Parts: sequence; structure tokens; C-alpha cells
Amino acid sequence: MQEFTRCLVFCALLGPVYASCPPRCECSEAAQTVKCVSKDLRSVPTGIPGYTRNLFITGNQISRVGPESFMGLSNVTNLSLSNNRISEVESHSFAGLLRLRSLDLSSNQLAVIHPEAFTFHNQSLRELNLSRALYNRSSVTALATSLRCSSMGSLRSLDLSDNSLIYLPSHVFSHLSSLRRLQLSNNSLVAIHNSTLSGLEQLQELDLMLNALKTLTEESLRELDSLPNAALLLGENPFTCTCEIEPFALWLNRSQDRIRDAEDLVCSFPASMRNTSILAAGTLTLGCYQRDARADLALQTSYVFLGIVLGFIGLIFLFVLYLNRKGIKKRVYDMRDACREVWEGYHYHFEVDSDPRLSQVSTDAEI
Ligand SMILES: *[C@@H]1O[C@H](CO)[C@@H](O)[C@H](O)[C@H]1NC(C)=O
Ligand SMILES: *[C@@H]1O[C@H](CO)[C@@H](O)[C@H](O)[C@H]1NC(C)=O
Ligand SMILES: *[C@@H]1O[C@H](CO)[C@@H](O)[C@H](O)[C@H]1NC(C)=O
Ligand SMILES: *[C@@H]1O[C@H](CO)[C@@H](O)[C@H](O)[C@H]1NC(C)=O
Ligand SMILES: *[C@@H]1O[C@H](CO)[C@@H](O)[C@H](O)[C@H]1NC(C)=O
Ligand SMILES: *[C@@H]1O[C@H](CO)[C@@H](O)[C@H](O)[C@H]1NC(C)=O
Ligand SMILES: *[C@@H]1O[C@H](CO)[C@@H](O)[C@H](O)[C@H]1NC(C)=O
Ligand SMILES: *[C@@H]1O[C@H](CO)[C@@H](O)[C@H](O)[C@H]1NC(C)=O
Ligand SMILES: *[C@@H]1O[C@H](CO)[C@@H](O)[C@H](O)[C@H]1NC(C)=O
Repeated sequence: MQEFTRCLVFCALLGPVYASCPPRCECSEAAQTVKCVSKDLRSVPTGIPGYTRNLFITGNQISRVGPESFMGLSNVTNLSLSNNRISEVESHSFAGLLRLRSLDLSSNQLAVIHPEAFTFHNQSLRELNLSRALYNRSSVTALATSLRCSSMGSLRSLDLSDNSLIYLPSHVFSHLSSLRRLQLSNNSLVAIHNSTLSGLEQLQELDLMLNALKTLTEESLRELDSLPNAALLLGENPFTCTCEIEPFALWLNRSQDRIRDAEDLVCSFPASMRNTSILAAGTLTLGCYQRDARADLALQTSYVFLGIVLGFIGLIFLFVLYLNRKGIKKRVYDMRDACREVWEGYHYHFEVDSDPRLSQVSTDAEI
């Protein structure tokens, strides 16, 4: 009887640790894998066995994770929480996962991301998937803060695709110095500003497909040139082939070896240029610099011509003056004499008019 009771107590204590599997989950000790897939779970289940290396809690209704969610799961290397409704990630939520290498938070609604949400006691994380994970584009600010406070110096791959991002805060990746692969495809980025990509010295692949890039400005090109070892993907952007695209087209020609899809990049606008290769647009169709140069040349030519004509007219004038020098001299003397006569006449009248006695004399004389 006592033996039986002891066994009961013993089994009750050990049961959850060894034999059990959380309700609505499938556990395989041989595969060290636990799956709780599409089971309407509202929170991370308790009682996940300690042997678990691969943990999939996907397609449920989980709305938040916190520091208690993954306690004692130090063997987990792969954790997927994709397709839930996680809107809040508290500080140190994943800190107990000492061997975590891959974290998949894709297809969630992250709005509240605490600054220390991505701190790990052991810099073991290699892959972070945040594809379609942000609630809206404003969430990127909180994400940027948590990435800057994170301890993910060993992260190799970050997926931020499908998030409707319209901009990236500066220095957002500056703590991810081991990052090799960065996916930013299917967002709404319009430019790559200064210091957006700073700190990514080791980057090998940057995917910017399906964004809203109309061209890449000199600033953007400088930023991309700060990652000399990264292969780039730029396809499916609404490139607009007006003269502003020329620096980009020239850069593209120069950097063809690292733009993986350089030959597939085509103009989307204007309609007349649609489907024209940007590599060709730079050299053949646009010709903006040549046109400017031609206009400049025409302008300069017209100025020079005007100068010559004016100079010629001036010369003829001087020549005519020279030929007529005698006549002119005579005319000048004549004029001077005429003026003198007029002047003296005027002077005389003026003096007579202004002297009352003289006028008196003349009136008297008239009488
Ligand atoms: C992790 O796995 C090892 C070996 O499989 C095991 O000895 C250890 O108890 C596990 N850790 C936990 C917390 O269960
Ligand atoms: C850190 O992670 C490595 C494997 O990535 C593991 O061998 C080591 O034990 C971990 N450190 C701690 C303190 O658990
Ligand atoms: C676990 O993650 C690694 C990458 O860190 C990956 O290569 C591996 O396939 C994943 N395992 C499972 C079972 O998903
Ligand atoms: C991230 O998750 C999405 C959706 O689950 C998947 O399509 C994508 O391949 C994942 N990214 C990486 C780098 O594994
Ligand atoms: C994002 O969601 C928050 C919270 O609902 C809201 O305050 C903010 O205005 C939203 N931002 C955008 C760009 O929709
Ligand atoms: C791009 O992302 C949106 C969600 O942000 C999604 O609805 C759409 O299917 C994605 N497009 C592609 C081509 O992946
Ligand atoms: C970007 O950097 C250049 C020089 O490197 C500077 O002239 C420009 O003002 C900067 N732009 C911004 C938005 O900081
Ligand atoms: C552009 O090219 C694609 C594939 O090469 C083709 O399917 C599409 O019809 C073309 N569009 C126009 C407007 O020529
Ligand atoms: C493009 O590059 C090639 C050599 O790589 C060069 O011959 C050609 O002139 C360049 N085109 C332009 C417009 O610079």
C-alpha cells in the first residue's frame, strides 16, 4: 500500500517531465520535436518536455510572449511561432532558450516590442524571421530600438520581407555585425538613406525586390557601395526612366557583377519606356548628358556669334568716323561757333533784361 502511494506520488512528479506532452501537441522524443499546429492555443503551453530541440507552435491564437513562456527549454535550437496573433513581445522573452539558433516569428502582428525583447544570454541566434510580422509600418520604430538593444551579434540571416515598410531608421542594423543575408523584399521602400545599412560589413546578400524604388539616388548608391561584398537583388521596382535615372544606370553598368538581376531590370515608367532594359536606357535611349552638352554648345555658339557681329558693327562705326574726320572737325567747329553766338546773344539779353536801369534806358529811348 505504502509502495503504491510512493509510486503514485513519484509518478505524478515525474509524469509531466518524462511521459507527458502538453494537450493538443504532438511530441516525439526520438526526433526531439514538439508540434502544436493549428490548435487554437491562446498561450504558449506549459509542460513542454526538456529534450525538445525543435518547437513548432504555429497557426494558433497566441497574442503575447513573455519571460515565463519558454522557461527551462534550454535545449531548443529551432523555435517557430509563425502564424499566430502575437502583438506583444516582452523583454527577455527568449532569454531562457540558451541554444536557440533559429527563431521564426513570421506572420504575426507585432506592435509592442519591448526594448529588450531580443536579448539572449548566449549569443547563439543565427536566423530571425520577421516576414509579415509587424502589425503596421509604425512598428518598425519599436523594432529598431529592440534591435539596437539586442544581443544578436551572431545573427546571420534576418528576414523583414512583406512588412509594408516605407523607411528604415538610420543605424537600425548597426548591432548586427555578423549579418550575411538581409531580406527586405516586398516592402514600400522609396530610398536607402545615409547610415541605414551601416554596420553590415559582412553582408553577402541584400534583397530589395518588390519595393517602391523609382530610381536610386546618389545617396542611395553611396550607401549600397558601403557594402562592397553584398550581392544585390533589385527587380520588380517601379523604375522611372527619366534623366534622373542616369546615375543609377551608369552605376548599374559598373556594378553588374554584384547586381544579380542587373540584366532583368526594366523601366516601368514612362509608358513609352516600359520593359526597356535599364542598362540599355543609360547608354542608348535617354542621352540626357549628350543633350545637355549639345544645348550648351549651341548657346555658347550663339554668344560668340553675337559678340563677333557687335564687334564688326563697332569697327565699321569707328572706320566711318575716321573717314569723316575732316568733315566732323569742321562740323564741330561750326557747331562751337554757332553755340558761342547763341550763348553770347543770350548772355547779352539776359544782362540787359536783368538790369532795370538798362531797360529803363531802352524804354526811354523808345519814348
Ligand atoms: C537537454 O538535453 C540533454 C541531452 O538530451 C539532457 O541531458 C538535458 O537534461 C536536457 N535539458 C533539459 C533542461 O531537459
Ligand atoms: C551557448 O550555446 C552553445 C551552442 O550554441 C552551447 O554549447 C553553450 O552551452 C551555450 N551556453 C550556455 C551558457 O548555455
Ligand atoms: C533548424 O534551424 C536550422 C537553421 O538554424 C535549419 O537548418 C534546420 O533545418 C532547422 N530544423 C528544423 C527541424 O526546422
Ligand atoms: C520566413 O517565413 C516566411 C513565411 O513563413 C517564409 O516564406 C520565408 O521563407 C522565411 N524566411 C527564411 C529566410 O527562411
Ligand atoms: C499603427 O498602429 C498603431 C496602433 O494601432 C496606430 O496608433 C498607428 O497610427 C498605426 N500606424 C499606421 C501608419 O497606420
Ligand atoms: C507582399 O506582402 C503583402 C503583405 O504585406 C502580401 O499580401 C502580398 O501577397 C505580398 N506579395 C508577394 C508577391 O509576396
Ligand atoms: C548624406 O551624406 C552626404 C555626404 O556623405 C551629405 O551631404 C547628405 O546631407 C547626407 N544626407 C542626409 C539625409 O543625412
Ligand atoms: C514586358 O515584358 C514581359 C516579359 O518579358 C511581358 O510579359 C510583358 O507583356 C511586357 N509588357 C509590355 C508592356 O511590353
Ligand atoms: C558599360 O560597361 C562597359 C564595360 O563594362 C563599357 O564598355 C560601356 O561603355 C559601359 N557603358 C556605359 C554607358 O558606360
